[in-house]
Amino acid sequence: IITSLIMAGGKGERFWPKSRTNLPKQFLNISGNKSMIQQTVERLERLMEIDQVFIVTNESYAELIRVQVPHLPEENIIIEPVGKNTAPCVGLAAIQIERKYPDSTMVVLPSDHIIKDEEEFLRTLRAAIEVASRDTNIVTLGINPLYPETGYGYIESTNHTVQINGLEVHLVSRFVEKPNLETAEKYIQQGGFYWNSGIFVWKTTTVLQKIKEFLPVVYDILSTIRTALDGPDKEQTIKSEFIKMPDESIDYGIMEKSDHIYVIPCKLGWDDVGSWTALDRINDRDENGNVIIGHTLNMDTKRCIIESNNGKLIATLGIEDLIVVDTEDVTLICSKDKAQEVKRLLKELRSQH
Ligand code: GDD
Ligand code: MG
Repeated sequence: IITSLIMAGGKGERFWPKSRTNLPKQFLNISGNKSMIQQTVERLERLMEIDQVFIVTNESYAELIRVQVPHLPEENIIIEPVGKNTAPCVGLAAIQIERKYPDSTMVVLPSDHIIKDEEEFLRTLRAAIEVASRDTNIVTLGINPLYPETGYGYIESTNHTVQINGLEVHLVSRFVEKPNLETAEKYIQQGGFYWNSGIFVWKTTTVLQKIKEFLPVVYDILSTIRTALDGPDKEQTIKSEFIKMPDESIDYGIMEKSDHIYVIPCKLGWDDVGSWTALDRINDRDENGNVIIGHTLNMDTKRCIIESNNGKLIATLGIEDLIVVDTEDVTLICSKDKAQEVKRLLKELRSQH
């Protein structure tokens, strides 16, 4: 049986001020007329029943999930008391998914990525599930790298290849999370490397076995929680135990250390919508290279991203390479080359309150 786990605990801070702590990116319509998480659920429902879809998130977003995905069974919302990064979050979900669907093959994926080619995504996932359901294989979806991005994981493939449904599945020689610029440049020159899309396919038993092997502290805490899952102290135990989790990501904690990793190179029209400049890739641009959303009037304006969210007119004259985002209570004006640093504003704002 197949299951899926959508990770929805991110704060989406680089999408401020549209993305807010109480309404982060995954719950917004960044492209299309549904939120990112709604689109993620819909994609998965073409492969499995809604009962097989799980979402892991923190307490404060549970209600948003109930509202946006009303047909998701309540017990499929897995709540973490605090965010401890992706390894504890996947572990907590794996022990609960295993109770409902013993020995399932689980697709783990982010809630806030864009995938334009759904057919290719489904075809790739089917092949990935086939490989992951055998043994203790871990399967990743690899994206052809376009530039030396330092915010991604890099997957080095080998020539050990099997064909599954017309797709090439390569054995991986190593996984390197967020290399520095020099290293990333080297990988791109060398060839044979893929960006990690952040989508992992493995059996729940494989994940738990890897956690046991490489993150024993996480595993011990999970074991304590597991013994309480059927009893009356379930919630209380999760609360008191999960806080003890170390901060660990799947990428550094498991992927960099594991064997038996496979990668399926694919062209999904994938975008992780990392910051405002992602709209340059996702949306159509006008003849001056601007991405315009909402009510605006632009003259001599070039390569800007301008979004009005509340019907107010944004009028621009003679500006270039700027991001202008107006929301009810905040207006952001940011140079495009600083798009990655929007978090700095938030940090400063928080320190003032
Ligand atoms: N529930 C929950 N709890 N979700 C979380 C938590 C957590 O503690 N931490 C992160 N997430 C969710 C985020 O919302 C996101 O959807 C996903 O898990 C990945 O976390 P990120 O924090 O966005 O990771 P990253 O961008 O630094 O790197 C990962 O994604 C890249 C592709 O976008 C890695 O897997 C890289 O290797 C990969 O290239
Ligand atoms: Mg990310």
